[in-house]
Parts: sequence; structure tokens; C-alpha cells
Amino acid sequence: MTGLRSIRMTGPAPDSVWIGLRQETSDLNLLIYLLAFLVLTIGNCELLVTAVNRVHSRPIREFFLRQLRHAHDLLIPLFPAWLLIGIGGIAPGVLFQDIEPAVTWSLLPFAVQLYFVCCGLGFIGFAMSVARYHLNQVPRQQIGFLSRVINIADELGAPPVANGPFRSMTRIPGNECFSIELNERVLELDRLPADLDGIRILHLTDLHFIGTIDLPYYERVLGHVALQKFDLAVFTGDLLDGLQFTDWIPKTLGKVEARIGRYAILGNHDWNLPTAQVRDAMTAAGWIDVASRCEVLSVGNAEIAIGGNETPWMGVAPSFADQPQSVFRLALSHSPDNINWARRERVDLMLSGHNHGGQVVLPGIGPVYSPSIYGCRFAGGLYWLDPTLLVVSRGVSGRHPLRIGCKPEISILELRQAGKRK
Ligand SMILES: [Fe+2]
Repeated sequence: MTGLRSIRMTGPAPDSVWIGLRQETSDLNLLIYLLAFLVLTIGNCELLVTAVNRVHSRPIREFFLRQLRHAHDLLIPLFPAWLLIGIGGIAPGVLFQDIEPAVTWSLLPFAVQLYFVCCGLGFIGFAMSVARYHLNQVPRQQIGFLSRVINIADELGAPPVANGPFRSMTRIPGNECFSIELNERVLELDRLPADLDGIRILHLTDLHFIGTIDLPYYERVLGHVALQKFDLAVFTGDLLDGLQFTDWIPKTLGKVEARIGRYAILGNHDWNLPTAQVRDAMTAAGWIDVASRCEVLSVGNAEIAIGGNETPWMGVAPSFADQPQSVFRLALSHSPDNINWARRERVDLMLSGHNHGGQVVLPGIGPVYSPSIYGCRFAGGLYWLDPTLLVVSRGVSGRHPLRIGCKPEISILELRQAGKRK
């Protein structure tokens, strides 16, 4: 900027001043190009990730989703290379730039200009999601939290890895896929009937039997579950990634015992299989299928209506409209995207999985991939959206055995009636 001020000199400027001014203008151009490179590259990544996240929230078959993921994997590194080397042969790239940015912009075809504007918007979206990640607070309904990490690989003496797909991911440094968190949360809810005060719910989700993380992992995890106190057990989908693992169900979920009952729905990965067989296997293991319907249980003088929602992949969203006001409404929905359905149905507590916490949480940025129409907004954790408390578990496993900064999770939720605290 000192160079710009030097233009006010009276009389002709000496050659050394003009050389200095050109140098500073060139430096300024380079800075603009580098900033634009950064914004466009991040914005392009955000657009591609947004597309992948949104498409994976819809009932689209795995074959097509895989093609989209391949395109995403290709375009993320190609785009910055295209910017650096030369913008499609239309204008020189950032590294060889000695032209005014405004001139470069004017050389670009309208379609490229439009895409760059979209990338700029993508960058703003990225900044907003990072800000939301940092500003997100645990809702006031959580009044107690205890967490314990159990390293299953250490307990077994070796990582329990079989010959399934993506097994090389288990060797990535920092991968926490065998370090599961056992989380106990105490939740204070306004509409909880007195007879349900203190009820403990085991929430399991996203087991993903695929044959990579081996059966001993799940047996050990469920062994730890058996040592916990809970009254009701629920499973919110994504059990199998291959029918050949059906015989793992009685050895794992079949071992869960709950005084009040065990209730389950399926998820989008189960939808890719013959679902009738998956449901039969769950039922044979003692779990009650509540997909697309409500079941009312009596506990003392209180009642709980449990409604299962497997949409948009299967069935219909059940209605709680017939339930009297006194009945506590518990929704099981594989995807947290059904939160607005739950709010309309005046659900008190909705339990979900599906998003796996994002599986990889980048320092300072947060989760990136979350197969949701809301992106990473409901990747994992607790969210109060009046009148519903949404709890999204990170799940026990995943199709891809990769967890960085995002341990797998089992939750036990203890419900307390609001105003009972001393
Ligand atoms: Fe899942």
C-alpha cells in the first residue's frame, strides 16, 4: 500500500519507484490469487461433500451412491490442480500468474464464473458449519454425564480384524475404531410420568456386521453391556451389511436382557438386504420390531408409546396422535433427519444413529461427512428442538472401520422427571 501512496508524488517518479510499485502490485495480485485459490478449493470441497452427504440421506441404492463417491474422490484433488496449472486452458493458473485478477476473471466463461461464485457460497457454508460446531452446547436436559472408554483390542490382546472389505483402514494411525465409549447420561424431561422416573434405557445402534471388524469385538462389547443396569433396550438400525452374518445376531443382540423389553428398527444398510430375513433374525433373537407402528407398554401406572420410523428407506412414519397426553412418547428413528416428524408428533425423546458422529472429526473443524439432509448438524450428540429431545448415538461400528477423533459409542440414558432434583 505504500506504493499506492507514492503515486501522489509531484513530478515524474524515478524508475526505482515504478519498479517498486509494479513489484507491490504483483505481490498484491499473488495474494489475491492465493486467497482465491484457498476459498475456491475449500468451497469446491464443501460443495462436493454437501452433495455426498445429502444424497446419502435419500433412498438411493448403494451402486449409485458408490459412483457418486468415486466422482467426489476424483474431483476433490483435480479441482485445485486445475486452478494451479491453468483454468481449463482458458486462463493461466495461480502459480504462473502475472495478470490483474479482474482481467483473469473477464477471460473466464460465464459457466466457470458461476461455478466459482457457487464455490464462494460453499466457503461461506463451510465457515458457518465450523462456527456451529464450536457454538453447539449440550442442552439443559442433560443433568449428568459419565463416560468410560474401553479398548476392546487391548482387552482381546490383538485388534479383532477379519478378512472383510476396507480392513487396511484399521491400521491407519490414530484410528479409534476399537476404543468404544460407554456413556451414561442423566436426562431431565418435563413430561416424564412419575412412575418412569429413573428408568434406564440402553441405546444400541449401527452395529454394521460386515466381516471386517470381527465377531469377538461385538461379543466383548455386548459383554460389557451385560454388566450395566438398564430396564429397556432399543436398537435403531444398521445391523447387517451382509446376510451371511445373520448368525452373529443371537451371539450379540440375542444376549441383551432388559426387564421391560427390547425394541428395534432397521436402517438403510439393512434396506440393501432382504429385510424380511433381517427382521426374522431380530425377532428370533427376542427383539420386538416396531417399524412403522407404535407399541404401548405399561410400566407401573405409566405408559410409554414406542414408535419406529425407518423412513425414507422403508415403511411409513407412525402416528402418535391416538396416544393420550399422559403417555410418554419415545421415537426410534434410524435417521435424525426425521426430527420434524417427531416434533409434529410431540415426541418427548427421539433416539437415532445413522450419522456415526461423522466418523472423522478434524481438529478445529469438526465432522465433515454425515449422511444427512442437515449435513453435520446432527452428526452425534444431544439436541433440544422443542418439544423433542433428540439423542444421536455415534453407534458401535460402521461399514468403514475408520474412527478418528470420534470413538464408537454405547449409551445408557437415565430419565428423570423435571423438578424432582433436590
Ligand atoms: Fe450406519
